[in-house]
Amino acid sequence: MIIRDDRNVKVILADYDVQWMMQAQLQLGMNSMIKVVGLANSGEIAINRVLEMGADALIINYGMPDMSAKDIMQRISEQSPTTIVIAISSSLTANLIAQAKSMGIAEIFHKETLNFKELADFVVNCVEERRRQLIEAADRHGVIRPQQQQVRREVITLQQAIILVHSPKGGVGKSTVSSNIALAIKKSPILSGQRVAILDFDCTFGNLATIFALSKSEVPSHDLSRWEYMTEAATLEEVDELLMTSQSGVKVLPAPISPAIAERINEKTAERILNILKRYYQYIVIDGGPKISPLVDVSMEYATHIILLTTPEGQSAENIGRVVYAVKNTEGYDYLLRKMMLVLNRVNKNRISDLTPKEVADIVGLPVFEELPEDDVVPRAINQGNGRQAIEIDPNAPFSIAIKRLTNTIVPGSYMKTSETAEKMEEKEKKQRRGIFGFLR
Ligand SMILES: Nc1ncnc2c1ncn2[C@@H]1O[C@H](COP(=O)(O)OP(=O)(O)O)[C@@H](O)[C@H]1O
Ligand SMILES: [Mg+2]
Repeated sequence: MIIRDDRNVKVILADYDVQWMMQAQLQLGMNSMIKVVGLANSGEIAINRVLEMGADALIINYGMPDMSAKDIMQRISEQSPTTIVIAISSSLTANLIAQAKSMGIAEIFHKETLNFKELADFVVNCVEERRRQLIEAADRHGVIRPQQQQVRREVITLQQAIILVHSPKGGVGKSTVSSNIALAIKKSPILSGQRVAILDFDCTFGNLATIFALSKSEVPSHDLSRWEYMTEAATLEEVDELLMTSQSGVKVLPAPISPAIAERINEKTAERILNILKRYYQYIVIDGGPKISPLVDVSMEYATHIILLTTPEGQSAENIGRVVYAVKNTEGYDYLLRKMMLVLNRVNKNRISDLTPKEVADIVGLPVFEELPEDDVVPRAINQGNGRQAIEIDPNAPFSIAIKRLTNTIVPGSYMKTSETAEKMEEKEKKQRRGIFGFLR
C-alpha cells in the first residue's frame, strides 16, 4: 500500500536470499504503516542502509554470511542506537534466543513458520513504543539530539536489477514508465557511471527508438534481429556497438521497424540477448509490450522485478488480475509472484469514475506498490520530440518524483540523500527562495 503518513515505519530487510526479501517486502507492505526502504544481502550493506535511510527497524537474518550478529548489533548500537533490530533464523534454540536478546535484539522469529502479519504488527508496535519513549525523555531532559548519523560516501555494493514493465493491455504507459525508470537510474546521484540498457520487447508496436529520438536509418542495423546469431561470448565492445546510445547515456536496443523481421524474433533470441547483456549491464529495463509474448515470457524468468502496470480502470486491472491469478494457481510459479509489484499509472484523484487504488488491488490480488500520477509533463516530454524524458524535462513534476520514488524502492539507495546531495539540494532551495529579487537582499 502507498503510505502517506510521515510517521510510517522505515524498515530495512537483510537476508542472503533475495527472493525471500522480495516476498517479505510484499507481505510486510500490506501493513500500511510499513515502508520497506532498503534491502541488503550482507551485514555490511545492511548497516550502511540503516544509516543512509535513517531506518526505524532492521529485520535481519541471524546468520549473515559476512558478519556475526554480535558485530552487527555492536555497530548498530553505536551508530544508530534508536533502530530496532529484529532477527530471523531457521534454527531456533532456547540458547540462541537468550543470546540474541542479550545482544539487544528485540525479538527473534522462526523463518520457516514466519507469519508476516504478526511480524509487521510487532515491528510497528516496537517502533511506536520507542518513539514514545524518546518523546517522554525529551520532555524530561530537554531535546535529545539523535546521535549524528554517519553518512558513508563509499560506493555501495550494487545488486543487478532486471526490471520488466508489463501489462497485457496496450496504452497504459509501459513505454513511458520503462524509459523514465531507465533514465531515473542513469541520473541517480549514486549510480551515475553504471551501465543502463533499455530493451524494446514490444516487437509489433515498439516505439522506444522514437521516444529516445534515435536515428531511424540506424535502427535496422541495431534492432533485436541483429542478436539472432550473436555469440554468447561477445565482448563488451561488441555489445556496445550493437546498442544505440541515447543522449543521456542509456543504451537502447530497439525493436525492428519491419513487421516481417519482427515476426522472426523468438524466445531463443530473447534469451541470448538477456544472457549476454546480463554480463555487462548492471541495470536492464525491459519495455514488455502487450500480450504475453514469448519475449515477455523469457523476460519474466530473467527479471529481478516485474512491474505490473495498470491504469485505474477495470479492463486493464482485470487483465493484470488474470496474469496474477494464473501465476498464483500454477504450481511452481511462486517465484514469479514474489517478483511482481503492482504499479498504478495515470492516477487522477479528481476523476471520480476511476477505480480507487484499493479497488484495483482487490481486482488484481496484489497490494499497490506505487501510484504514478496523471501528469502533463508526460505528453510535454513526448511532444518535444528531442528524446528527453519527463524526469529530465521537469525533475520536480509529480510524475517525475513518483518515478524516482519507485526507482529508489527497486534499486535501494539510488535516490537517498548523501550529505553531498543534501548540501546541493539545500543550496538549490536557498537560491530558489531568494527568487528574482534575491540580489537586493
Ligand atoms: N502518467 C501519465 N500521465 C499522462 N499521460 C501519460 C502517462 N503515462 C502515459 N501517458 C500517455 O499515455 C499514452 C500511452 O503511453 P505508452 O507509454 O505509449 O503506453 P504503452 O507502452 O503501454 O502502450 C501516451 O500518449 C503517453 O503520453
Ligand atoms: Mg509501448
